[in-house]
Amino acid sequence: MTQQLSRRLFLAGTSAAASAGIVGAANAQTPAGGAASVSVQEALKQRRSTKRFGRADVPRETVLEVLWAANGVNRPDEGKTTAPAWHGSKDVDIYVALEDGVSLYNSAANTLEKVSDADIRADVSPTAFVRRAPVVLIYVSDGQKLATAAGDIATSAPEELAIAARVNSAIMAQNVYLFCAAEGLGTCLLGTVDREAVKTALKFPDHLTVTYIQPVGAIG
Ligand SMILES: Cc1cc2nc3c(=O)[nH]c(=O)nc-3n(C[C@H](O)[C@H](O)[C@H](O)COP(=O)(O)O)c2cc1C
Repeated sequence: MTQQLSRRLFLAGTSAAASAGIVGAANAQTPAGGAASVSVQEALKQRRSTKRFGRADVPRETVLEVLWAANGVNRPDEGKTTAPAWHGSKDVDIYVALEDGVSLYNSAANTLEKVSDADIRADVSPTAFVRRAPVVLIYVSDGQKLATAAGDIATSAPEELAIAARVNSAIMAQNVYLFCAAEGLGTCLLGTVDREAVKTALKFPDHLTVTYIQPVGAIG
């Protein structure tokens, strides 16, 4: 029912946008090519945090569309992406926890690279609703990349780098919020993360920090 309503809103938004002469949100460079086209205004109207997920699975193709929205390459000539980053640091990678394991999003190739066969979705957060989501995005910042981007500039104090890691992650998360709003999917950014559990499960070295997680799935 919720999905049907969302679909109707999406279609209404599309036709309203078309009649108003608004160019849709879908980008010609979107690798999947078939992403929903709604106005930015409509996606903003629908943007919200979902804290109850349905059991329905999210197709792999949709997962890739979510990731492309988060931080996919939108300017191939320059290798630049949908999300800005502090001093172009490119420090944040997105890992995706699914039932069949965890993969790293390769934005340059727009592909998923398997890093673990373990299902860690129930371990990434103490928050109960995360456990029902079929897809959990894990934002991971590389402190070495941030330090390299910072160089010796005056703003590169450790606390500035810690803020940059979270801001860079959160901007990607807002892209995901808007994509999900346009597609009728649910999502929620969370700072309540069991960072040690993720770090241990994925054998992260100390310079990798989990900033946030973001479950994605059907609205329950
Ligand atoms: C940085 C950040 C961290 C958040 N962490 C959590 C969290 O740990 N648990 C949670 O349930 N919601 C979390 N949220 C979602 C907020 O609860 C939610 O955005 C807020 O209640 C407003 O609701 P809305 O997003 O529907 O407008 C977080 C949001 C942000 C921006």
